[in-house]
Amino acid sequence: MDGSNSLAMRDVEYHLHSQTDLRAHERDGPQIISRGDGCWVIDDGGRRYLEAMAGLWNTALGFSESRLADAADAQMRKLPYYHTFYHKTPDVCIDLAEKLVKMAPAPMSKAYFTNSGSEANDSAVKLVWYLNHARGRPEKRKIIARRRGFHGVTGVAASMTGIPRMHVDFGLPLPGFLHVTCPHLYRDGRPGESEAAFADRLAAEIEDLILAEGPDTVAAFIAEPVMGAGGVVVPPAGYFEKVQAVLRRHDVLMIADEVICGFGRTGNMWGSETFGIEPDILTCSKALSSGYFPIAAVLLSEAIYAEIADNSARHGGFGHGFTGSGHPVGSAVALETIRIIEERDLVGHVREVGPRLMDGLRELGAHPLVGEVRGVGLIAALELVADKATGAPFDPKLKVGGLAQDLALEEGLIVRALGDSVAVTPPLVISAEEVDELLARLGRTLEATAARLGA
Ligand SMILES: Cc1ncc(COP(=O)(O)O)c(C=O)c1O
Repeated sequence: MDGSNSLAMRDVEYHLHSQTDLRAHERDGPQIISRGDGCWVIDDGGRRYLEAMAGLWNTALGFSESRLADAADAQMRKLPYYHTFYHKTPDVCIDLAEKLVKMAPAPMSKAYFTNSGSEANDSAVKLVWYLNHARGRPEKRKIIARRRGFHGVTGVAASMTGIPRMHVDFGLPLPGFLHVTCPHLYRDGRPGESEAAFADRLAAEIEDLILAEGPDTVAAFIAEPVMGAGGVVVPPAGYFEKVQAVLRRHDVLMIADEVICGFGRTGNMWGSETFGIEPDILTCSKALSSGYFPIAAVLLSEAIYAEIADNSARHGGFGHGFTGSGHPVGSAVALETIRIIEERDLVGHVREVGPRLMDGLRELGAHPLVGEVRGVGLIAALELVADKATGAPFDPKLKVGGLAQDLALEEGLIVRALGDSVAVTPPLVISAEEVDELLARLGRTLEATAARLGA
């Protein structure tokens, strides 16, 4: 880090980072990003990087969509803030609620707004708890999630998250949050187990857990269609169908966490469409505003809404809400984002460039370091392994994924190491040429990683 008053020094001095080794940060300093240009970001030294993670899986329209800047600017000047408490609402929030309800992958009745995906998932759980109180069965409140699932970092959302690092020394998960096996055949399948047998086994595990806990204590199951932060895990064929049959038998609600998958990422507007999920409650964020404004939504079915509404009437109000719920600027940016996704048929575009990305990754899968290539649409990962034949992982202490992530940066490519899986989720607007560029840089990264490991 140069200069005592440099940006980097001031970052270390004043800024507490998210998801960062804070002592390593004091030593190494930040990577400062100053500008965006399509699928590229530019650091404070002027170096360009192909942003193959779309920021945090969210910048669907890339980093320089002027229509979103214009939508925010116009809304800021017209009505910069209003809230949704006590019957009030910004006008534009109504348009967004209607749009989301009408475009939902299953019949939905209402949209509820929050500032973040974590708050959306937190709110979804509170809605379920409130609902079961209203139904006279307050003890039906346990939530089942999956190991390696990521649902956010607020107390409740982190409790549903199945990644130990999000729990350790926070005293989490809270009681009543249960975790079942991750649907990752490559890692969690038994030797010789077929996809179908694996899906059967995982559905049976959920049923056994519900029966052991008592169906009258289990309220909901939450799942990402494709797990993101857990390492990009695409479930085995038939998984959600089998799981939902179990949930229906025991009156357990299905919450689809579409925070990453929503708005085209998997090659359909919703991950629920790609995987046959029929959610009772759906949460979404990220691509909803292409990351340009913090906003998220919870969509809920009429059956759930009706009882929540009755209960709120009994109590003289629904005791939940954020200052930023239904923020007019977020609503305007989200509406414009969805308009662009539809006008430019970005879902169709993902179906065109997604296979190009997957084919290219499969070619890179021949590399001795790569144990598995997985993905769908424009969300994918390469899992790096110590032994390609057996799939034996590297010693986690070697941080091989982290090494690849750092070496990618030297190639001008931003990817993300999730353990030793290297994730790739570029903006949905990525062109075919940029997909090729991404693959070329990733190929060089694999070579550089192998060379470093060999050295
Ligand atoms: C699937 C999923 N759900 C929820 C969240 C939490 O969203 P936020 O960071 O906006 O709170 C994330 C964030 O990455 C996510 O990937």
